[in-house]
This record gives sequence, structure tokens and C-alpha cells, in this order.
Amino acid sequence: MPPLASARTFTPGPLRGALDVPGDKSISHRALILGAFADALIEIRNLNPGRDVRATLEALIALGASVEGNGSTVRVRGGRLREPMGAIDCMNSGSTARMLLGVCAGADVRARFDGDASLRRRPMEPVAAQLRAFGAKIETTDGTLPLLIDGTPQIETRRFILITPSAQIKSALLLAGLFARVPVTILGDKRSRDHTERLLRYLGAEIAWDGMRVELLAGPTRRDPIDVAGDFSAAGFFITAATIAPGSACEIRGVGVNPTRTGLLDALLQMGADIELRNAREVAGEPVADIVVRHAPLRGVTLGPDVALRAIDEIPLLAVAAAFAAGETKITGVRELRSKESDRVAAIERLMAAVGIEVEAAPNGLTIRGGTPRGEGASVDTHDDHRIAMATAVLAAGAGPLAIDSDASIDVSFPAFLDTLRSVQHA
Ligand code: S3P
Repeated sequence: MPPLASARTFTPGPLRGALDVPGDKSISHRALILGAFADALIEIRNLNPGRDVRATLEALIALGASVEGNGSTVRVRGGRLREPMGAIDCMNSGSTARMLLGVCAGADVRARFDGDASLRRRPMEPVAAQLRAFGAKIETTDGTLPLLIDGTPQIETRRFILITPSAQIKSALLLAGLFARVPVTILGDKRSRDHTERLLRYLGAEIAWDGMRVELLAGPTRRDPIDVAGDFSAAGFFITAATIAPGSACEIRGVGVNPTRTGLLDALLQMGADIELRNAREVAGEPVADIVVRHAPLRGVTLGPDVALRAIDEIPLLAVAAAFAAGETKITGVRELRSKESDRVAAIERLMAAVGIEVEAAPNGLTIRGGTPRGEGASVDTHDDHRIAMATAVLAAGAGPLAIDSDASIDVSFPAFLDTLRSVQHA
């Protein structure tokens, strides 16, 4: 059940000290799904504790996988998946819906998929169209949830061209091939996040990719435990807050720094941020580091679509940083932001309006005129979008007090966010 909603005010102040972030949400979904493929127990540690990952875990149980443990360490055993009793409730999670559609397509499972009001507004036709080419039958409701899928053992196509450079759709196709036990080739990627590929390789699968093309020839052969790296997107809130709030110096430990995810880092460094990566290491096939951030003055920059794709969930944070930068920042390649958990272009407009910063939104771009953002207690409507709720806290850290209508959505990816912020923010 979603937590009780409560309005909340965020205050300004520097961030000092060390902090940890939860396990990566994207990797957690994939670890559970690959666990459900294995015909033996796989232990997953540091699983993301948010509601989205819970949606995937419960859906896999409904599909016949067994899951032991309930906290950040779980043990999953898969095998043959079956038709679930009721509809699969993907709650707020686009990743759950799209990737499990791939699983059902490949595993020859019939299932109904549904989700909350926000997920029911998000496009499912692109993933459905690509899985139909695979042979699955999918009936959507005007291109959205609820939908009915009938998986297929009849593989019609093993070579796909991605219609949109989405990691969720790429992963759905890889998982369809994996669960159907047929090789697949996917063309047309644009360096979208490669967590599925890395995890498959870590578990011994025969797979090759170069950012544009992925080829999966054979599935996993190992059952090594999976340690989930810290979530870069969760770290992004603290990286940005420490950059804009004068007097900040903080360290975020054990963060995944997969280059397909770190567009925010590259953009902030280009803007003049003071960020250092230390203690680089590898965890379950993913690069990990500790990130040290100090406050720094920023300048406006122009960011191309390649950065936007590698910072797709951090564009609201880039807009927050741009509000503090001298001069204009232009961000292109933001079209997809309109169909995330909320319309995030509109959310960025509300955030900027709350602190008196000018923003211009074009269909595929944003221009932010930086200056001296001032938070004077205005309330930002989050539209129940976790990343907008947390981005408001970040903006307030540098600009002055701001409020949100409800903090209930934060649980989707980072239930301990408010406590973590409290532990490092000083008045
Ligand atoms: C995700 C991919 C991105 C991202 C989402 C998680 C994933 O979506 O916005 O939060 O785990 O693959 P798209 O693939 O639709 O760009």
C-alpha cells in the first residue's frame, strides 16, 4: 500500500559528511528477472528497497518464481514460468511492465498487465510493437495499460531494430530471446544503459555489444551472487545539492558509475563542478566508485542528445544546476521526458517558476537562463513523481525554502531519502 502522503517543506543549507545510497533500481529489476530465469538459487544483495522493485519481485512470484528473504538480500529461484492468477500489478514502474512483457513473450506465458494511474498514461505501444514482431500477441488499451499478452514459442524474428533508443525496450527484447532460448540481435541502440548486457555477461552468458548493436547468443551459465551497485540516480540528488549549496563537501560511497548512466557527472564537470571519483572498483560487472563533491560556481553550457540519453532521469537535476549557472544552458534530446512518471518538462517549468528562473521549452529542448534562484516557500506540485519531489529538496538546498504537495512518491525509488538528507544537511 502506498505510504500516507504528507506535504513537506525543504530548507536551504550545505551538505557535509559521508552518505550511502540504496542499490541501483535499474540493476535490481534485472537481477531479479535473471534470478527468475535460473533453475537454481541466486542470491541478490543490496537490492533497491523502493516500491518499483517490489512490483517486479511480486510480479515474478505471481509468474511462478520463488523468492526467499524480504530485505535487501533475497534469494531467487526460477524455472518454468506460468500464467499468473490475476493481473500483474506493475504499480508505478515502467521498467517492470516493459521488461516483464519481454519475459512473458519469450516464456510463452499469457498474462494481464496493469498499473497505477500514472503508469496507465505511459506508452506501451512501442514495446508491444517490437514484441509482436517476435511473435507475441498483445492487445493494449489504446496503446497503454491495461493490456493482455499471449507469449509465443513461435519465434518469428530474431533481429530487431529499436524504434526508440530505450534501454527498457532493448532489455525486453533481450529477455524475450533469453526466455525463449533463441539468439537475438538488436540494432539501432544509441548507447542506452547496458545493465542487462553486463549482468548477462557477469552470469556467463555469451553476449557482445558496442553501444549500437547487441548480440545475445547463449544464456547464463553461472549462479554467482549479485551485489547491486549504489544507485547513481539516487546519488545524483546529493551530487547536485552539494554542487549548488555553498559550503558543501560530501562523499557518496559505493556508487555505480557505468558510463551509460553518468551523463549528469559529465555535464556538471563541463559546467565547472568540483567532483572527484575515488576508489574505483568493479561490482558484479559494473564500475563503482566513491564520489566526492564540493560546492563550486557553475557556468551555462550546451548539452547534446547523447548527454540527455545518459542522464535521462537526471534532466530535472541538470535544470536545477543550470538555474545556478552563469549564462544560458541548453539541453536537447528531452522529448522522452514528457512520458516519464510525469511530464518532466512541465515539472521543470514548475520548479524554475518556483524560484524565479526563466525556462523555455521547445518540443525536444530546454533553455534555462541561470541567475540567482530564490526559494521563498512556494509549493511545487510533484504530480506524484518521486524524482520531482527529491529534485525540489535539492533546489531548496541552494535556493531557499520550497515545499511539495506530497512526499508519498519518494518511496518509489529511495525510501530513506529524507533521513539521508537530514543526516548530511546543515542549517
Ligand atoms: C530504465 C531506462 C530509462 C529510464 C528508466 C529506467 C531502465 O527508460 O528512464 O527510469 O532501467 O532500463 P527508457 O528506457 O524508456 O529511456
